[in-house]
Amino acid sequence: MPFNTYRFLFFVTIEDFLYRNPMSKKILDGIETHIELDGFVAANYDLLMNLLSLGMYPRFIHRAMASLGIKTGDKVLDLGCGTGRNLALIAKHAGPAGQLYGLDLGEKMLTQAKQRFRNQENIHIAQGSILESFPFQTNFDHVTISFVLHGLSHSQRLTLAEIVFHHLKAGAMFTILDWWPEKIKNAPFWFKPIFKAIECPMAFEFIEHDYTKEFSDYGFRYEGSTAHLLGFARVIRLTKE
Ligand SMILES: C[S@@+](CC[C@H](N)C(=O)[O-])C[C@H]1O[C@@H](n2cnc3c(N)ncnc32)[C@H](O)[C@@H]1O
Repeated sequence: MPFNTYRFLFFVTIEDFLYRNPMSKKILDGIETHIELDGFVAANYDLLMNLLSLGMYPRFIHRAMASLGIKTGDKVLDLGCGTGRNLALIAKHAGPAGQLYGLDLGEKMLTQAKQRFRNQENIHIAQGSILESFPFQTNFDHVTISFVLHGLSHSQRLTLAEIVFHHLKAGAMFTILDWWPEKIKNAPFWFKPIFKAIECPMAFEFIEHDYTKEFSDYGFRYEGSTAHLLGFARVIRLTKE
């Protein structure tokens, strides 16, 4: 088996471990999701990602965050920010003049984010749902979301697009890191059973949609995608028209 296949299998093993956490199971629009992390997994999220990927996760997420297109001094909101790991990388691109915000529901994940940024006055963390009006001002240069969208229902994704649009400046950017639907649907024969074994049913509904097009009804223009994880995941770049 080629090295890249081994790398991919490590990542899907991580997803399996995370999404089988029974504490996080919910039914949305009649479909099962596990996107809200809690318990042992939430309390040890970063460590588990590093250990289970045999140290490969940091390099992947470093590259993914570099491909978002964050600029120096940007005011950035990370939706479902978890432990704040992505925000810490975003901070390197936004620099000390950047104003960074993280929003998440999960108490255990947020405790780690607050601890991580306790001495950084330009990074603000809040607890709340990304599906309600955000507890922040509305003039963001950039809103980003990483591996959260596939765990929401379709109607929740559309609600999210509306809220994000409201919170962005004109011409500002919305970036989404998540599975690449076409690549997963047209994956080699060995991949589909693995995806089925590792992902919650909501992710199968997610890959039936193309949000590069569907979010255009909500005022976003598709600017392009960058492939990650052997092309099975991507960063989508959208701008507010
Ligand atoms: C798989 S984790 C991803 C965390 C982080 N974005 C990353 O890439 O490492 C999903 C995160 O989304 C958060 N989440 C799920 N649904 C949410 C909601 N409705 N509002 C706020 N946060 C939510 C969970 O608490 C969890 O921290």
